Amino acid sequence: MASLLPQKPHAVCIPFPAQGHVNPMMQLAKLLHSEGFHITFINSEFIHRRLLHSEGPDVIKDSIDFRFEMIPDGLPSSFTTNQDIPSLLNSIQKNLLAPLVLLLKKLNSSSDVPRISCVISDATMRCGVEAAEELGVLAIQFWAAAACSFMSVYHLPELIERGIVPLKDENEISNGYLETTIDWIPGLKDIRLKDLISYIGTTYSNDIFLNFLVDVAQSWLKASHVIFNTFDDLECEVLDAIACKIPCIYTLGPLSMIGEQLQKSETRSMRSSLWKEDLECLKWLDKMEPNSVLYVNFGSTTVMTDQQLKEFACGLANSKHPFLWINRPDVMMGKSAILPPEFVSETKDRGYLANWCPQDQVLLHSSIGGFLTHCGWNSTIESICGGVPLLCWPFFADQPTNCKYACTIWGIGMEIDNSVKSEEVEILIMELMEGENGRKIRNKALEWKEKAQEATKQGGSSYNNFERLISEVLQPKE
Ligand code: UDX
Repeated sequence: MASLLPQKPHAVCIPFPAQGHVNPMMQLAKLLHSEGFHITFINSEFIHRRLLHSEGPDVIKDSIDFRFEMIPDGLPSSFTTNQDIPSLLNSIQKNLLAPLVLLLKKLNSSSDVPRISCVISDATMRCGVEAAEELGVLAIQFWAAAACSFMSVYHLPELIERGIVPLKDENEISNGYLETTIDWIPGLKDIRLKDLISYIGTTYSNDIFLNFLVDVAQSWLKASHVIFNTFDDLECEVLDAIACKIPCIYTLGPLSMIGEQLQKSETRSMRSSLWKEDLECLKWLDKMEPNSVLYVNFGSTTVMTDQQLKEFACGLANSKHPFLWINRPDVMMGKSAILPPEFVSETKDRGYLANWCPQDQVLLHSSIGGFLTHCGWNSTIESICGGVPLLCWPFFADQPTNCKYACTIWGIGMEIDNSVKSEEVEILIMELMEGENGRKIRNKALEWKEKAQEATKQGGSSYNNFERLISEVLQPKE
């Protein structure tokens, strides 16, 4: 017999298969769950396998109204890291749509779960929008990064039309072409070609990155609702420009901070780390002086060479500052990262090394005085939540754009040259941790932290936008 109880609204959440996308989608899903939504969180097979085996203390768990599902991605079972990005993008474009549609139809015909109210898919997962259209349900896109990088991808087709990208050959990287100012993208200030999404700066025609993003940008021409993990004060100009192109945009960031305000359910402690988190590092931080520790972490996808690793180690050792350095097991392409033994012995009294940590908690710890980062968007916004200044070494994707904004517009960072020389690393660490410039950018980072708190507290812009999203879109009153 059909239930007479009113049905819960049901949001299906589909992240892009990478740590930096699963985490913010999980934060969004937990928020909606706290507002009474039934959640189905759909991962592609590769990520689902990783999450199940991540051994963390609070890893994913099904509950009656927060369920995990998996769709096959066609990747071999040996595929375990994000290092092979072309294969990953290829599988997203070719393999996910059909099983996703089947799964959504199955959910909609099940008496066990409410009918689907909306599909919230990562804005890079075109299959999410197409599957929602096929079922006739509302499609909402979630850009898990900054508004400035959204705008640069949005204009990729025009950059191609104007003949600016793809690059003709490698000489264009060395001959200063990437310094070209791009002054016609609405809302983006003082932007050079090299600050735009790095697939643009470094790719040639027929490149899978470029083609993938062109495809994504084209899907946005029809987008009606887009959610951003940023806040209005931080990116007002570019958000105004986006609002002229997309009918309904919702800035809900920082999602981790608004979650602190609103989450009340049993999912609060549920984490989505793909690696086991070292919790001992928090106890080590407890013993350190306030603002004394440099935190070093390059996220889940950056890879570096032996030489780059050594230059960072040497710069860190010579700076004489305490540090917490997270070296992901696959941070080096094809082999494990081995730090020079003399570095390890020389710094053992003031350094803590680990493979992975609860970064959101680390960045809120009072001992952290600076963050050497690749400028992934989550790292950048989590750092803003902690009021922590940045030393930026962008690697790829949206990271150059985030770095540009952090260093020149928000005033919370200093950039390390791409070539990484230990002398420069040492000088910049000392400047960040004890210099005049470091003091200024730390103050600026604290100002942004306050603005983020304003945005996410009751009556703030992100808080109000979340309420608007719920009332206007997800639970419209009859
Ligand atoms: C990817 C892209 O590279 C990034 O540019 C884009 O903005 C999002 O997707 P990633 O490189 O992993 O992300 O970086 P980032 O965006 O910083 O996300 C990493 C996530 O993993 C963060 O939420 C961070 O808190 C978490 N993390 C990282 C940990 O919990 N522990 C760690 O040790 C390292």
